[in-house]
Amino acid sequence: MRSQPAVTALIPAAGHGTRFGAEQNKIFADLLGRPLLGWTLDAFAQCTDIARIVLVANEGESDLLWELGERYAGGKLQAVVLGGSTRQESVRRGLDAVTTEYVLVHDAARCCITPELISECVGTARSHQLMTVVRPVTDTLIRRSGELIERTDLVAVETPQGFLTDLLRRAHLSARSEGFVTTDDASLLRRLGRTVHLMESTSPNPKITYPEDLVIAIALLTARTTAKLPFVSDAL
Ligand code: CTP
Ligand code: MG
Repeated sequence: MRSQPAVTALIPAAGHGTRFGAEQNKIFADLLGRPLLGWTLDAFAQCTDIARIVLVANEGESDLLWELGERYAGGKLQAVVLGGSTRQESVRRGLDAVTTEYVLVHDAARCCITPELISECVGTARSHQLMTVVRPVTDTLIRRSGELIERTDLVAVETPQGFLTDLLRRAHLSARSEGFVTTDDASLLRRLGRTVHLMESTSPNPKITYPEDLVIAIALLTARTTAKLPFVSDAL
């Protein structure tokens, strides 16, 4: 059987965590005795579909990211690239270090990602060239004006997002030259008329945005080591 081409995970970690409100970048927050980014890296290290990892860092944080890479990235860390003032600029710069045909872009701040979900994304990217993980919206949504939005038409966009690297690179260059800025790489492809496959998430993959999100992450990561969910009937 012909071996599949290698895939790089591009992980933007060059934010400032303004909404998290800590003095340090939230990716260094302690999560069950390990920095948040360590959990993210470990999932990519364990996934055999990922050959390399490129991290995007803030100025002054590159050394720390190399150290975390050595500890948690399973020998896959290929480069630590200096980020920009927006997520889009950070991803664009990270792409310069990507040499594989496919790239999976994943927020450092989504630390509950599993190797299984990453593999599913790689498979979907290979079948569809462009894909993003999405999650059905469960809340009823309205515009601030009061207008109700039909929930079934909506999904929340998550990462990983998988792309043919050259297509994503072209989309970034086009957006940059036209001054278009977004936090969603898949939207950069859509504005060029490309169809991005929507893959419904099969496991919870929340982004740590506010400090209280850590509670959810702790519960999810702890539950992985709990073989069986407790039910009241077990105690009767
Ligand atoms: N990110 C980045 N470069 C930026 C901004 C964000 O690499 N200039 C990264 C973050 O480190 C994070 C991911 O993009 O892993 C998603 O961004 P977000 O959750 O918004 O993180 P922050 O930008 O750090 O948080 P905030 O918006 O609250 O400042
Ligand atoms: Mg941000």
